[in-house]
Amino acid sequence: MRRVNGARSGTARNHAARVFGVAATAALAVALSGCAGGGEQAASGPKDAGDIVVGFAQVGAESGWRTANTKDIQRAFEDAGIELKFSDAQQKQENQIKAIRSYITQQVDVIAFSPVVETGWDAVLKEAKDAGIPVVLTDRAVDSEDDTLYESFLGSDFIEEGKKAGQWVVDEYADQTEPVEIIQLEGTTGAAPAIDRAEGFAEVVGADEKFQVVASQTGDFTRAGGKQVAEALLKSNPGVDLIYAHNDDMGLGAIEAIEAAGMVPGQDIKIVTVDAVKDGMTALSEGKINFIVECSPLLGDQLVDIVTKVVAGEDVEKRIITEETTFTQEQAVEALPDRQY
Ligand code: AHR
Repeated sequence: MRRVNGARSGTARNHAARVFGVAATAALAVALSGCAGGGEQAASGPKDAGDIVVGFAQVGAESGWRTANTKDIQRAFEDAGIELKFSDAQQKQENQIKAIRSYITQQVDVIAFSPVVETGWDAVLKEAKDAGIPVVLTDRAVDSEDDTLYESFLGSDFIEEGKKAGQWVVDEYADQTEPVEIIQLEGTTGAAPAIDRAEGFAEVVGADEKFQVVASQTGDFTRAGGKQVAEALLKSNPGVDLIYAHNDDMGLGAIEAIEAAGMVPGQDIKIVTVDAVKDGMTALSEGKINFIVECSPLLGDQLVDIVTKVVAGEDVEKRIITEETTFTQEQAVEALPDRQY
């Protein structure tokens, strides 16, 4: 139930009433609000940007993508003059839950977060809803039956990314009749991009039995994790043709492992990754990575827009999909000079 289309949830309506209920009496506005401060807002009208407080619970700092995403979100809220409370969960769900509970206690206007993993959010999101605080998902989805627990989900279509990676592999080996041995470096276990990128890729390459995923293991979206797992899997799979890494950082770790094993990345073993951060694009331009599917971390301005609308009681799309492309070596060479991250 996490791929959503739908009407605005009850939380948004409660929140709009809390902040903008101009026709209501102060007592009624307080009753609608479910938390302190509602009556005051109703009497004083719409909030200025400078009065809005947003709590953002970030996944961590596991990758170049994540660092770029954090910077862009902080920059966008600063530009908009909206106060952003920021916490880094160090890739632990319990830390994110603690941060969300703290934002509820602080009665922020909106909570935004990028869930480390897909499941296990219903209880804390229900607490936010009961407190009348709207939640916006960025980057990653939650797997919940109840889509009224959040207002909007802004981020990439990870299944599509996996399919694009798979399609490049299918095209690249179109003339080969021998089996193509593939190692998959998975993202964080249970995270939406790890689940969906594996699913999309399998759907495309699985249509031809010559493509064999001989090993698939998590590198937790980190460079060190990618290197360590690639080192081990290359030893147990000496005939491997290609590594599909769920992000650039793990692909960059795999490059180090391939070189340490005395082979040439991009030639002896081909590499396909997802993200297109500067380090990944540089490796692609040098021929060490063969193809990158873009996943854009630049979500800040769109998130500000959603938050502003939610606080104003306006409708927001339940699902906003980020636009992105793919890069070959030539395209990376061309794009690199202007790459922001
Ligand atoms: O959720 C987006 C993914 O998380 C990025 O592809 C990866 O680099 C990050 O860690």
